[in-house]
Amino acid sequence: MTRFDHDYYHRYYGPAGVHAPEQVGHLATAVHAMAAWWGVEIHSMLDVGAGLGMWRDWYRRHHPAVHTLSIDISEHACRTWGHEQRDITTWRPERSYDLVVCHSVLQYVADEGVATAVEHLADATECVLYLEAPTTADLAHVVDPQRTDMEVHHRSGEWYRALLGQWFQQVGAGLWVKRGTVPMFELEAAAP
Ligand SMILES: C[S@@+](CC[C@H](N)C(=O)[O-])C[C@H]1O[C@@H](n2cnc3c(N)ncnc32)[C@H](O)[C@@H]1O
Repeated sequence: MTRFDHDYYHRYYGPAGVHAPEQVGHLATAVHAMAAWWGVEIHSMLDVGAGLGMWRDWYRRHHPAVHTLSIDISEHACRTWGHEQRDITTWRPERSYDLVVCHSVLQYVADEGVATAVEHLADATECVLYLEAPTTADLAHVVDPQRTDMEVHHRSGEWYRALLGQWFQQVGAGLWVKRGTVPMFELEAAAP
């Protein structure tokens, strides 16, 4: 796959990029702390479609005892930032991870592969999933088209919720918990 090459990462993760390590650090800090609040200890994390590997690097720096694995479909990303080269639509993880991160990846996965990709995310997730994928409404009204790759699959939030809801309960702010793991108070999460 050549789409995710040097120019792609330079364009979207250069100085005017979509997000930088410092911002991901704020997010990772919050996600790790929310998991702790729920009583979930993060001993292992999987970064799916890791790109520059900002989540993995945050864990290695701040929680070096956490086992990390980062995967990406891009040969360039794997060679440059040290991931295993995997396609989440075809790679079924052999074990589960306390935290799975899938940050800005599913919009690249074609309709025919996305259900399998989400099934693989569910297989990989022991407890907590952090997921961000821009929806049709986000692409029309929320994202900055100058800084965001608009050549992606446009799907509604309802569509993603129906798919993810088979395995996960949506908590909010990108957080989902695997069904049957963390009991949520009624007002803490979306309806189960
Ligand atoms: C927008 S970047 C996000 C990078 C990183 N997650 C972040 O948020 O900084 C999308 C990444 O998803 C990867 N990707 C796209 N399709 C994939 C697939 N089917 N399996 C694994 N990785 C994929 C691309 O190679 C690219 O590195």
